[in-house]
Amino acid sequence: MESNKSIRVITTVSADETRFQFPRWANYLVPTAILLAIGILTYLPLLWSVGFSAQTTSVGYEPVQPLPFSHKVHAGDLQIDCRYCHTTVERAAYAAIPATEVCMNCHAAIKSDSDLLKNVRDSYGSGTPIHWIKVHDLPDFVFFDHSAHVNRGVGCVSCHGRVDQMEVVHQSAPLSMGWCLECHRQPEARLRPREAVTDMEWSAADEDLSAKGLGQQLMQDYHIRSPEFMTSCSVCHR
Ligand code: HEC
Ligand code: HEC
Ligand code: HEC
Ligand code: HEC
Ligand code: HEC
Repeated sequence: MESNKSIRVITTVSADETRFQFPRWANYLVPTAILLAIGILTYLPLLWSVGFSAQTTSVGYEPVQPLPFSHKVHAGDLQIDCRYCHTTVERAAYAAIPATEVCMNCHAAIKSDSDLLKNVRDSYGSGTPIHWIKVHDLPDFVFFDHSAHVNRGVGCVSCHGRVDQMEVVHQSAPLSMGWCLECHRQPEARLRPREAVTDMEWSAADEDLSAKGLGQQLMQDYHIRSPEFMTSCSVCHR
């Protein structure tokens, strides 16, 4: 055990030095710990109150919009695909709200003198966007990404309900942490082929496989990660 001996020699310190066995920064350890504890104690209740505020848990929230745009007419009766207007859902976190130009693609000719479209024409003429009021709004400390869901076969209807039947869009799911986790723990029953994400009427019965078989197949095809990973705090709180 020659080598052990040589190590002991190196680590032996003089009596003088042993008085400073803790490095100097250790002096700040206790005050720092106290400050951190105070920080956490004030931060958590704040997080809690924001998290439970009416704005984020209000199922049914249905603000009055600047003009009566109907999803029932456009997405339902006319069968315009969601992505024609919400162009970024497949590649970005945020689902874009269409610019006035998109409306004018049709309404320059269709119902072009309707009173209900006056705001649209004014907006187009002046270049001022229409001020649509946000319906869904997660607290800022939650990270959400549309593309991560839409590209892995989670349909709009799973989170937004039958938008194609809504005259006025309302919030249909709680968007609470418990609600997110419920699916992250067990997504297989909620997956569908990517091609069907905007199809409001799709059902697993349309496919050749049983619902269970299809879910497992899609978990593999889309490389869905484990429930342990999908429920870890840092996925949604970054
Ligand atoms: C012709 C364009 C158009 C089509 C097609 C369309 N939308 Fe929209 N969507 C809008 C506009 C404009 C708004 C903002 C006004 C409003 O909230 O009604 C909106 C708002 C929304 C909102 C609420 C956003 C918020 O503020 O939280 C959701 C959810 C939504 N659309 C989902 C869908 C889904 C799902 C489809 C397909 C079934 C779809 N939309 C098809 C134009 C469209
Ligand atoms: C692909 C074509 C198309 C696009 C794009 C489109 N609409 Fe329409 N919209 C229609 C048609 C067609 C109707 C008439 C439906 C009916 O009553 O038969 C209509 C009806 C309407 C009406 C009711 C008008 C009335 O007098 O009854 C409003 C309001 C309206 N659209 C707003 C919008 C807004 C806002 C946008 C952009 C976010 C938009 N539309 C985009 C085709 C379109
Ligand atoms: C996994 C659930 C989920 C799915 C699937 C989903 N959304 Fe959303 N959507 C949300 C949440 C949550 C918000 C609120 C985001 C925020 O406030 O940061 C939202 C917000 C929106 C908005 C408002 C703009 C924004 O990004 O905040 C639109 C428009 C929208 N969704 C459309 C769609 C369409 C169209 C689809 C399908 C192609 C879809 N969503 C699929 C949960 C979902
Ligand atoms: C209906 C099922 C479902 C619901 C509801 C749902 N998610 Fe997801 N989420 C998924 C699936 C499936 C994935 C993709 C998992 C993967 O890529 O391994 C995902 C991925 C994510 C990711 C991306 C993780 C990454 O690193 O790429 C985030 C962030 C996320 N979800 C946040 C949320 C939040 C916040 C909510 C609630 C507002 C929510 N999700 C509700 C099914 C869901
Ligand atoms: C799948 C997404 C997701 C994951 C994973 C997640 N959270 Fe959350 N968390 C949310 C959402 C969404 C809210 C906002 C809830 C609301 O607005 O009602 C939230 C809110 C909170 C709040 C505020 C209080 C509350 O309940 O509303 C705390 C604290 C919190 N999360 C802690 C955590 C911790 C700790 C973990 C890990 C064990 C975690 N979260 C994992 C989505 C998630």
